[in-house]
Amino acid sequence: MTGRLDGRVAIITGGASGIGRGCAERFAEEGAIVVITDIQDAAGEAAAAAINDAGGRAEYRHHDVTDEDDWRAVVSAALDRHRRLDVLVNNAGIGIGASIVEMSLEDWRRQQAINLDGVFLGLKHCIPAMRDSGGGSIINMSSVAGLKGSPRLAAYNATKGGVRLLTKGVALECAREGWNVRVNSVHPGIIDTPIWTKEVGGLQPGVNAIDPHAMAEVSAPVGRAGLPRDIANGVLYLASDESAYVTGTELVIDGGLSA
Ligand SMILES: NC(=O)c1ccc[n+]([C@@H]2O[C@H](COP(=O)([O-])OP(=O)(O)OC[C@H]3O[C@@H](n4cnc5c(N)ncnc54)[C@H](O)[C@@H]3O)[C@@H](O)[C@H]2O)c1
Repeated sequence: MTGRLDGRVAIITGGASGIGRGCAERFAEEGAIVVITDIQDAAGEAAAAAINDAGGRAEYRHHDVTDEDDWRAVVSAALDRHRRLDVLVNNAGIGIGASIVEMSLEDWRRQQAINLDGVFLGLKHCIPAMRDSGGGSIINMSSVAGLKGSPRLAAYNATKGGVRLLTKGVALECAREGWNVRVNSVHPGIIDTPIWTKEVGGLQPGVNAIDPHAMAEVSAPVGRAGLPRDIANGVLYLASDESAYVTGTELVIDGGLSA
């Protein structure tokens, strides 16, 4: 352990799986107290237990990011238990692949609710807690799909593009108000996580799950899919004091996909 986040209290949404779990593990290695939140309770408990078994400090809490009362409960529990909040990773998200002319309004709204409303609620409820803790760092998980469009992913593009500019607007507000809270977005490319076996399957008509490795081999300039740890290392930089002069920016980690 090098202690880049020693004693910092961090909430990571969607921390039971994939990139969020990778961030939780990386943060714990650097001395953070990690509050993993998710709706997948068994996987979340397992992720926290694995970190604790490895000598880190983590706890799990059920939390639907679309539910404002859940946000209130998560933030107040973190403050009650640890007396401070330093880092938020707004990571929970889904990807629904579908033609825009076939997508239901219900799916459009569900994806907006998790990917964009969830980030808004996290900002709303965590910024005051961080400000009162002396400052903090928020990392919002966008995507390369928040920088450029993709066919059959337009609705996802809308959520992730929204996260990108929401980040910049809030970063400027925090700076102007002197709250000492930095806000940045991270834009992963094709990363090997379970998301590719879920609803993003509709990205290719008639396909249920996409193999991120096969897709990255043909489209990512480096010729491979990224790992959750590749993203976690960038998120760690933004969470730590090494990025003290960085706010409102977008960190692209995509193996050259968007270059
Ligand atoms: N994997 C990639 O290639 C990739 C690329 C760019 C961006 N992203 C983004 O990274 C983030 C993490 O995705 P991942 O690839 O690790 O996927 P994942 O499916 O492995 O993890 C997402 C987690 O979010 C949780 N979640 C879903 N709905 C939730 C809700 N309402 N409340 C709380 N938690 C909820 C899931 O239970 C899951 O544990 C997402 O925002 C995704 O859009 C992923």
